[in-house]
Amino acid sequence: MSDDNTPWHRQHLEPRAGLFAILTTVCISVGGLVEIVPMFTIDSSDAPDRVTIEPYTPLEVAGRDIYIREGCYVCHSQMVRPFRDETLRYGLWSRSEEYMWDRPFLLGSRRIGPDLHRVGGKYPDAWHYEHMFDPRSTSPGSVMPPYPWLSRWKIDVDDVNASVVALNRLGTPYSSEDLTATATVLQAQGSEIVERMSASGIEVTWDTEIVALTAYLQRLGRDRTTTLADADGEIP
Ligand code: HEC
Repeated sequence: MSDDNTPWHRQHLEPRAGLFAILTTVCISVGGLVEIVPMFTIDSSDAPDRVTIEPYTPLEVAGRDIYIREGCYVCHSQMVRPFRDETLRYGLWSRSEEYMWDRPFLLGSRRIGPDLHRVGGKYPDAWHYEHMFDPRSTSPGSVMPPYPWLSRWKIDVDDVNASVVALNRLGTPYSSEDLTATATVLQAQGSEIVERMSASGIEVTWDTEIVALTAYLQRLGRDRTTTLADADGEIP
């Protein structure tokens, strides 16, 4: 096997299974440490442009659960990539901390519809009501399916409470009011949306699913105060 042309590696290392296994383990361990150690040693709060990401309110959690139930992530991503065509269309690219309260994350992997990570504030609440009821009424030719039941079905306060309690156990900070008086907290935020919708002639109650889903959609991307113009080509 060994003639003058056989590489040194093949002659001396590869035939020695024991030694080769030890050296391979050492190499992989060094590679692993280089990747893993920084995760525990870097204090992520050191990042200069760190923004405070508020946990989702109970109503937004309810909306998020509906988003998951209806499989919206199958057609919509929630990740704006740092490419010019994406930032021109959607706004500032997504940063890792924006997902800190996302359990499970909803990055999505297909874009049959547009990315939704910056959709908060793009449209009025009433637009979301109309669009969910019949996407083609606001977006002619849309292939998005209608979700008319969202304006009829009610959220279940106990269910929302269970979600908030579970998130709290996983480390998302919720106030005792969020945890114990969930109905009151839900109603307070829901009523604001109901008021804005009724100004456009839409009659809904605060506990309909469309109100919760609208709260969630309007929240997306609102934590970033830096705009693309502020960033001015620099990665903040
Ligand atoms: C079959 C794929 C599909 C599914 C499932 C789907 N959408 Fe869409 N969505 C689209 C398409 C296509 C558009 C672009 C046309 C339009 O505005 O309707 C869109 C547009 C949107 C927009 C407007 C985005 C913008 O920036 O203009 C929102 C908000 C939205 N979808 C939310 C949802 C939510 C919430 C769900 C789940 C309840 C959902 N979508 C499910 C395909 C889908």
